[in-house]
Amino acid sequence: MTQRLDKFLSVQTSFTRSEIKKLISKNKVTVDGKIIKDSSLKIDTDTAEIVLDGQKIVFKDKIYIIMNKPQGYVCATEDKHEKTVLDLLEPQYRRKDIFPAGRLDKDTVGMVLITNDGELSHKILSPKNHIAKYYLVELEKPFKSEYIQMFKQNLRIDGDEICLPAQVKGFDQHENMALLELFEGKFHQVKRMFSAVENKVTRLERIQMGSLAIPPNIGLGAYIEIMHKDVEKLLKPSCFDDVYNRIIGDFSS
Ligand code: URA
Repeated sequence: MTQRLDKFLSVQTSFTRSEIKKLISKNKVTVDGKIIKDSSLKIDTDTAEIVLDGQKIVFKDKIYIIMNKPQGYVCATEDKHEKTVLDLLEPQYRRKDIFPAGRLDKDTVGMVLITNDGELSHKILSPKNHIAKYYLVELEKPFKSEYIQMFKQNLRIDGDEICLPAQVKGFDQHENMALLELFEGKFHQVKRMFSAVENKVTRLERIQMGSLAIPPNIGLGAYIEIMHKDVEKLLKPSCFDDVYNRIIGDFSS
């Protein structure tokens, strides 16, 4: 694709057009090894080697990042008072068109997809597409087996909101923990579901979306860019028992 240099840099980086103009006037931008003075230069985004302030900028149409969100960050592109998950990204990932697909609460940890692909984001979030999200939940009081039936039968939360049927199961090894599978994302849904059964969530972690689990080597606050085959896993049906057994395996390892 052919594009103006300043347009290309303003989409692929976090710099504004006027910052890019300044960087160009300070000889900080090269194309195929030559210093460029003209910000309107047309470049071939597939073949040109563009370096901005020592950093190679590679053209990417779509980008997919899986982050292990720590507590204390909000899932938003900007916020006047809070730190956002985008603040955790290194400059080369901080493009202007990216956003977190869906929200985890400020005190929830775990898997967040950050992307510029609106279509994929919609596919993952829309209950119609039946993409499961898995939450590992810690509770104030022990898990009760009666929750299994209650969650299966359109649990009513806060009087008037009805949840889709959800699968939940406790663990023999940890009586205050549970795995919950949801196909929708109502506001504070996990916390409100457990409060509807007179319990309270004390820690919440999203561990998987579709068939893609958060990679075990990604610590809190870290992230990886994922490629096509892992993006496809996000859309692949998953199985509650497989996720449950993996967690049991993690407990014993
Ligand atoms: N449900 C909640 O209550 N909080 C989250 O962060 C995600 C799901």
